[in-house]
Amino acid sequence: MKLLEDRIREDGRVLGENILKVDSFLTHQVDFALMKEIGQVFADKFRQAGITKVVTIEASGIAPALYVAEALKVPMIFAKKAKNITMTEGILTAEVYSFTKQVTSTVSIAAKFLDKEDKVLVIDDFLANGQAAKGLVEIIGQAGASVEAIGIVIEKSFQDGRQILLDAGQTVVSLARIEKFENGQVVFAQADA
Ligand code: G4P
Repeated sequence: MKLLEDRIREDGRVLGENILKVDSFLTHQVDFALMKEIGQVFADKFRQAGITKVVTIEASGIAPALYVAEALKVPMIFAKKAKNITMTEGILTAEVYSFTKQVTSTVSIAAKFLDKEDKVLVIDDFLANGQAAKGLVEIIGQAGASVEAIGIVIEKSFQDGRQILLDAGQTVVSLARIEKFENGQVVFAQADA
């Protein structure tokens, strides 16, 4: 997605070896116009797929996922990372290990929001090691629902996430694919949309 790649080139900051800071438009401050475009691109790709739900994980997946859901006219559900006192029964959970933060967290979705008829499009802001997406796939599987595809805004293709998801039989569609960082600049691989 050229608009997204241009924005990453313009406003993204490379931190250290392998982190891209995009807090001015995606992970902290959010550019709704860009999110709307992202929503349209994913919706165009999946309009014929019969998607019934969009699923993401808090926090930064929520903004793009909501616009995808709006464009597809289906509900968006975000997995929670902290146990909520109002989630008292029927909770689907998965353990997600973050290599970046080196912590394992339990992510959850209330069972009542997914059923076996659902065809889910998973959306997330970053794909690094694939653990968050893998956890979401596990939860969706517990509900008996199917994952149609995993849509990623920014994939760091030099990390293992994409391969892990492909090995698990998933379809991955990334709007920007980062091949490497070179002298503080982003080098892109061919994106999926
Ligand atoms: P994984 O989900 O692909 O396995 O990734 P990993 O454990 O490595 O990433 C943990 C967190 O760091 C995730 O956010 C992920 O989106 C984020 N992340 C990974 N690489 C980058 C990067 O290069 N830049 C930025 N800005 N974020 C990155 P999180 O902690 O789960 O969530 P959130 O609450 O911030 O959304």
